Amino acid sequence: MPDYPLDHELIRFFEQTKETFGPKFYENCLSGDNVDSNTKSIWSDQLSEFGESISSCQECQLGKHRNKFVFGIGDLHADLMFIGEAPGKDEDLKGEPFVGKAGKLLDKILSAINMNRHENVYICNVLKCRPPQNRDPLPEEVEKCEPYLIHQIKLIRPQLIVALGRIAATTLLRIDGNLKSMRGKLHDYHGTPLRVTYHPAALLRNPDFKRPTWEDFQFIRDFIQN
Ligand code: URA
Ligand code: URA
Repeated sequence: MPDYPLDHELIRFFEQTKETFGPKFYENCLSGDNVDSNTKSIWSDQLSEFGESISSCQECQLGKHRNKFVFGIGDLHADLMFIGEAPGKDEDLKGEPFVGKAGKLLDKILSAINMNRHENVYICNVLKCRPPQNRDPLPEEVEKCEPYLIHQIKLIRPQLIVALGRIAATTLLRIDGNLKSMRGKLHDYHGTPLRVTYHPAALLRNPDFKRPTWEDFQFIRDFIQN
């Protein structure tokens, strides 16, 4: 007789799950003392495997000129995902998104809502390679690169996506308009709620954007906590 009446049911559930999904399903979960972190490691492998599998992409002209492919950084199970338009010079050299001046400001804003780029946050771009002279992404580049982003989102499964800046927002949402008109609403990107806020580079140029950006980040913080 098991110690708890539920044990029988639980054991039956585990056995059925194992039968349905195969023995590998539990292998990683049961080998450690923290199921959650092990489950994450299964996901993390999938995400990094995917990143590696596309890292020598030559589907568009940007592949020829890049120093580094900039896949993304952060928590592989993040609730919150930031998407910029494309890597700039610093990002292309380092292989990490938002590491230049704008990125440092993004880090500061995140710390103001008690978050950082490694915990519960994931940061990437629509394009994974730097356009020459940081020009806007071309439609044919977006067409080739966006499926990578959509797959990335599917693996991470964030609660909320935040598009950083007008270019990222109009590219993802296929709408035209200024940033102001896109703020303050929940849009939808392939089934995930999406919010639009100012690009940190725009904040560096125009301090008037700081207050509305702070309002956006308070919304973001509250959305994730609820
Ligand atoms: N601007 C972006 O849109 N993305 C980066 O990664 C850096 C700057
Ligand atoms: N991308 C934008 O959309 N806005 C900026 O200010 C900078 C980059």
